[in-house]
Amino acid sequence: MGRVMRWVSATLVLAAASFAIATEPRVHFPDHIANCTRCHGANEQYPVLSIFATTHGVLADSRTGMAKQGCAACHGPSLDHARLPARAGGSEVDIAFHGERKSSTAIRNQTCMSCHAGAGMMH
Ligand code: HEC
Ligand code: HEC
Ligand code: HEC
Repeated sequence: MGRVMRWVSATLVLAAASFAIATEPRVHFPDHIANCTRCHGANEQYPVLSIFATTHGVLADSRTGMAKQGCAACHGPSLDHARLPARAGGSEVDIAFHGERKSSTAIRNQTCMSCHAGAGMMH
């Protein structure tokens, strides 16, 4: 194999490896979070993994509720939805923030204020 061919095949192997990493995240979430990310993972129609790059996704910060409550901290338990989403004839998520099915303003505010009402959690 010539030098160019070796370079080409090495590049292909690298490309294949990074593709595998991109499509199969090695992160293992606690069960209650995995119960949501199995459908809302990187390759799904409503991906949400970007929240783990924000303040709200810091599992080690107990104030975020992410480790204990997971997605439920903002979307409610939504267990019926996780069993069978509305699209498949089941239920919508308990609390939604935008689109046609968004929850009332009162419920949306209350959800954020459950953590952000204290003086230490205001801007
Ligand atoms: C079996 C796949 C599946 C699982 C598991 C799942 N979802 Fe969903 N989710 C969907 C689908 C499909 C939609 C599109 C709306 C629908 O059909 O309910 C959706 C929509 C949503 C929306 C957007 C709602 C809107 O109207 O904008 C939120 C928020 C959501 N899911 C949160 C969650 C949470 C939180 C969990 C875990 C408790 C979860 N989902 C588990 C498939 C799933
Ligand atoms: C700190 C509160 C908070 C937490 C925690 C949270 N979300 Fe959300 N989520 C929101 C808000 C607010 C929106 C609406 C964002 C927008 O309008 O751009 C949203 C939107 C969504 C959507 C709709 C995306 C779309 O494009 O329509 C899905 C699906 C979703 N969240 C799933 C999840 C899942 C799964 C988790 C857990 C891994 C989670 N959320 C954790 C606040 C939260
Ligand atoms: C379970 C608790 C909890 C809930 C619910 C919650 N937050 Fe937060 N939020 C936090 C924590 C903890 C921080 C980080 C505060 C700090 O570092 O001082 C934060 C930070 C923020 C920040 C500052 C920007 C940043 O990323 O640091 C904004 C803006 C914010 N939250 C908005 C919201 C909105 C809007 C909602 C409702 C959709 C919401 N939060 C729901 C706990 C929560």
